[in-house]
Amino acid sequence: MSRPTDEPLVLGIETSCDETGVGIVRGRELLVDEVASSMDQHARFGGVVPEVASRAHLEAMVPVLERALAKAAVDPADLDAVAVTAGPGLAGALMVGVAAAKAFAYALGKPLYGVNHLAAHVAVDQLEHGSLPDPCVALLVSGGHSSLLLVPDVTGEVTSLGATIDDAAGEAYDKVARVLGLPFPGGPPIDKAAREGAPDAIRFPRAKLHDGTLDFSFAGLKTAVARWVEARTDAGEPVPVADVAASFQEAVADVLTRKAVTACRQHGVTDLVIGGGVAANSRLRALAVDRCAAAGIRVRVPRPGLCTDNGAMVAALGASIVASGRAPSTLGLPADSSLPVTEVVVRLGGLPAGEPAQDDHDPGSDGAHHRHRRDALEDRNDDELDGVQRLFLLGRRSRYRGHWFGGERRLHDRIGGSHHRHLGRLFGLRGRRGRAGHVVGGDERLQVGRELRDELAADFR
Ligand code: KG4
Ligand code: ZN
Repeated sequence: MSRPTDEPLVLGIETSCDETGVGIVRGRELLVDEVASSMDQHARFGGVVPEVASRAHLEAMVPVLERALAKAAVDPADLDAVAVTAGPGLAGALMVGVAAAKAFAYALGKPLYGVNHLAAHVAVDQLEHGSLPDPCVALLVSGGHSSLLLVPDVTGEVTSLGATIDDAAGEAYDKVARVLGLPFPGGPPIDKAAREGAPDAIRFPRAKLHDGTLDFSFAGLKTAVARWVEARTDAGEPVPVADVAASFQEAVADVLTRKAVTACRQHGVTDLVIGGGVAANSRLRALAVDRCAAAGIRVRVPRPGLCTDNGAMVAALGASIVASGRAPSTLGLPADSSLPVTEVVVRLGGLPAGEPAQDDHDPGSDGAHHRHRRDALEDRNDDELDGVQRLFLLGRRSRYRGHWFGGERRLHDRIGGSHHRHLGRLFGLRGRRGRAGHVVGGDERLQVGRELRDELAADFR
């Protein structure tokens, strides 16, 4: 059973893109951060391929989880909660993490928190620099996002101040690297090449710098670099890779830092947190430090390993949410590829309000009494329910495939049935190997078969 604590022991699962991450924290203390990346498998495509990422998550999920638990010497029974990235991100990739987290939380009888990936990028800094000043402004820059956020309270109050209208900053790095013949992902090799080049060698465009918004645009910059390189190549002249890299990098860092400082000024905020893979960039870090110092703003950037996607960030946000006393998600938690940043904890799930109960299909449990009982239980946290109540809900909800099993069903259709086998091993932790397919798979035959019900009922008694 979970207990209210300032320093909850929380396991976080992250699968929104190509990193399979499992982290465990106790409050703001990082116990373990295990990450497996499928980046190598995407390199030849020059970008992350969603289906490849989903499959890789399936392969990596259980081994990464087991490694994390072993390294931290944490007994799953001691966990206070399980947190998982519910969105935004790649749909199939998210589903693997969400299905795994549900299976794990359900098997352990622990509360489950489906959390927002962007808020997690902000919350992770607490593991390194202590609790977040509220409010703060966050600049999140990665292969998938470029956002400025106003964060009065990372556990529940986050708003978007601006975002890219086209490519993300990291995406621009990756595309420019390709143009320059550098490997994928492009951030690190461009960062390295830029050290030998002159940032003012070529004046590349700084889009939207003076448009009065806090939005970004990097597609034009990427095209400008490609045109410039093309012109040199067409003229039979060598391409000065270091100068192009340094000049491109300067344009990105210039726009990002100027807009971040403007965001702080406009909202009277004196603390800036930078996160996401591009936060590892040496020029962005240096320029942010200089410009923030000049503007009287404190800037915090976690170490590069915590800037890129990882499970610790999800655990860190989960721990803050648990400590804040906010209610967990239901086991009907969906993966939402376009989850808005304002939704820090996903409360959706289970039956949508007003949906008529389909009791007529189940003569054994129809009637107003059962409807009433289900409705009363739906609003409760799963960790408040006893075994029989949970079983009751499982049985009831599982007939609403679209809600209870929806995500996993689609995952199953997209990438095959192997996740049953993989996720089944999660249940092995409690000796329930055989049943994972039922709980996480949404398999036809398990739509609450009596057999399963009886079996589970015996377990819970
Ligand atoms: O946060 P992340 O690991 O995954 C996403 O959510 O996208 O970020 C990956 C992105 C890639 O586009 C990569 O090129 C970029 O971060 N990146 C960098 C650096 N290291 C990684 N960009 C610029 N400079 C770096 N040193
Ligand atoms: Zn990210």
